[in-house]
Amino acid sequence: MQQFGVIGLSVMGKNLALNVRNHGFSVSGFSIDKPEVDALAKYEDDKLKPCYTWEEFVDSLEKPRKILVQIMAGDPVDQTIQKLIPLLDKGDIIIDGGNSNFHDTNRRYHELKKHGLHFIGMGVSGGEEGALNGPALMPGGDKEAYEEAAPILTAMAAKTEDGRACVSYIGPEGAGHYVKMVHNGMEYAIMQEISEVYDIMRKVAHKSNKEMADIFAEWDKGDLNAYLIEIASQVLRQKDDLTDDDVIDHILNVASYKGTGNWMLEDAIKLGTPITVVAEAVLARFMSKATTREGKEVVYDGEVASDLIDNLGKAMYLAQIVAYAQGFQQLTMAAKAYDWELNYPAIAQNWEAGCIIHAKTLYHIEDAYADGKQLDNLFQDPYFAGVMEKNLPALRAVVKLAAEAGVPTPSFSAALNYLESIFNPSLPANMIQAQRDYFGAHTYYRNDREGVYHTEWYEEK
Ligand code: 6PG
Repeated sequence: MQQFGVIGLSVMGKNLALNVRNHGFSVSGFSIDKPEVDALAKYEDDKLKPCYTWEEFVDSLEKPRKILVQIMAGDPVDQTIQKLIPLLDKGDIIIDGGNSNFHDTNRRYHELKKHGLHFIGMGVSGGEEGALNGPALMPGGDKEAYEEAAPILTAMAAKTEDGRACVSYIGPEGAGHYVKMVHNGMEYAIMQEISEVYDIMRKVAHKSNKEMADIFAEWDKGDLNAYLIEIASQVLRQKDDLTDDDVIDHILNVASYKGTGNWMLEDAIKLGTPITVVAEAVLARFMSKATTREGKEVVYDGEVASDLIDNLGKAMYLAQIVAYAQGFQQLTMAAKAYDWELNYPAIAQNWEAGCIIHAKTLYHIEDAYADGKQLDNLFQDPYFAGVMEKNLPALRAVVKLAAEAGVPTPSFSAALNYLESIFNPSLPANMIQAQRDYFGAHTYYRNDREGVYHTEWYEEK
């Protein structure tokens, strides 16, 4: 009998199946798309079994069955679950490894419980390469079901620098997919920040692609060490297949999205979480489609300070941390709202390798939340408070220069405004409250006494 099953054998599913096999576990693979099964069959051996029917697949698995469903999120997941229900036995475990919306995962978790089946909604990050060699895994659902699958998931997951697996039980219901959604929102934010740095370097500092590639590579050796910084460097070095130019100069500047970052923003709106950088990153993708492209190119011929690149690196590091701070702020608020007990250091550890946002900073984040430390905001931690103090002038200088040069920096500006606001004792919301009370008698709280107040604004005094 096989120890693990994978349904859906496109690149991700196939690579995850091979990953399980490569770690010494036996695995069956099935897809409704026969050519996908044929492609897996090329790797068939005593540990890897291609299956051509639902029954053959289900019957090949030892109980409790552990079935990873790696298909397109949405209706196909529901259809697959409906197909599986009559074929499975009580206690079997279905793991959805797609980018499913956590609301769907909540619903599926409760539906399957009624059938005596366990449902694990598992975020999987790392793309094709990660799927084969070690992804970051974010499983949520029943703890006991996770424990059953843990040996296999632990073996297949990416490992941190000190050899710990990038997988741990996240929490009940759709918590795993929620954490993956937050991962993706931060992914959008950091990618937008990198694109703004690129824009300033090319338009203000007049750097060539090669020079920028070298700068990103240099940053990747220090505090900014991160997968997205590393690939920014590689992107800038890549030659085009169709012309003699660098490929970056021929890629249309319209950003696509499947929408997981948008979902984070949707839930932030529901929870009231000020994830300003993520919001700007989502909106910047919309702007890349909506812009009329009718304006003139920015030509900056002003003075460029000799420390611009150094400032950009410092500003980028701080802005990257703001993205993480906002992600963790949303997790903290979601944990309260949805009554999930989230383990923040474990989540940071899950992201230290394998996933798209993996970065050296995550080791500091793990430390910040270690030993049950409660933080309302990541910047309350001494290490991050120190970075804020040290790098804030650089972030301010970069935003100022970009504003002068006419280069838009929505995410950098949002990061700066976030930092100017998050510890601010005197934000001007009193004016908003006064006006609400003025035109709508909406009442307000006072800063000097308890209770709810209303002013008769029109009264002649
Ligand atoms: C990952 C990625 C992955 C996918 C994104 C792309 O963690 O491996 O996040 O899930 O590449 O969903 O998202 P967009 O198409 O929305 O940019």
